[in-house]
Amino acid sequence: MIICRTKAELRNERAKLGTLALVPTMGAFHEGHLHLMRAGSLHAESVGVSLFVNPTQFAPHEDLSRYPRGEDEDFALAEASGVDLIFAPSAEEMYGKARSQVVVQGSALGFEGDMRPTHFNGVATVVLKLFLLFRPQVAIFGWKDLQQCSVISQMVRDLDVPVSLVFEETVREPGGLAMSSRNRYLSKEHREEANALSRILFATANVLACSPFDQASILDGARQQLVDKGFSPDYIAVVDPTTMETLPEAKPGSRIVVAARFFGVRLLDNVPIPTDFSH
Ligand code: PAJ
Repeated sequence: MIICRTKAELRNERAKLGTLALVPTMGAFHEGHLHLMRAGSLHAESVGVSLFVNPTQFAPHEDLSRYPRGEDEDFALAEASGVDLIFAPSAEEMYGKARSQVVVQGSALGFEGDMRPTHFNGVATVVLKLFLLFRPQVAIFGWKDLQQCSVISQMVRDLDVPVSLVFEETVREPGGLAMSSRNRYLSKEHREEANALSRILFATANVLACSPFDQASILDGARQQLVDKGFSPDYIAVVDPTTMETLPEAKPGSRIVVAARFFGVRLLDNVPIPTDFSH
């Protein structure tokens, strides 16, 4: 596996590879990241990964300085997952004294956009830079970050970026908790208890599939169940994943999305609402 630290090295090494699938990441790899890397080899001749804890997507009070880092372990895991090239630049190398950024609206508004107002501009800017540096044919992202998928699709459409996007379903712990680098902030016991979030989410999605007309009361019930289990929900809603519009009634392809705080950690999750063929 080739490791590049500078843009010049990346351009040079990239030119030697054929078609490329890019997996952008911030490191601290878990099975979710490794799944995206393995999926990459189905879509292109080579797989590239970026490992960059992007400062511009963190607000000043957020966890940039304590975000988990472990580069050597990450490199070994990426190599074992079939990655050909990894780009791990410093913030200085990535941005220098940059004074330009991508501004995203539409699907970047609401949900995480309300909680973290500058977050998606930071994500869109770094992802567009990575697309321009890697020039991948395909880029792979996880549904785990539903609104991020929506914002990146919107940017690619709006700015005519020549890349195909692939979204992979969320990889979960055996108990159901969506894997996330931030799960490391939870104690072992709390991590176990946090499985209730996905259990409630899947159960609610199933109920909604059968009773789409009772959505408001079903979502209220789910919110109450979360509170009873010790979560502080920021939102729970049914959305169109393309636009991030809240839907008053589930339709095929819609997803139920939740963000909830649990012992100081913000947990995000979302699942598809199954299509109920009995109606
Ligand atoms: P990061 O949180 O490291 O996630 C990198 C990619 O892994 C994202 O596409 C994310 O959705 C996906 N991912 C995370 N957990 C997953 C899981 N349990 N199952 C499947 N995929 C999962 O998302 C970012 O980094 C950054 O915002 C980035 C896009 C790299 C821009 O800085």
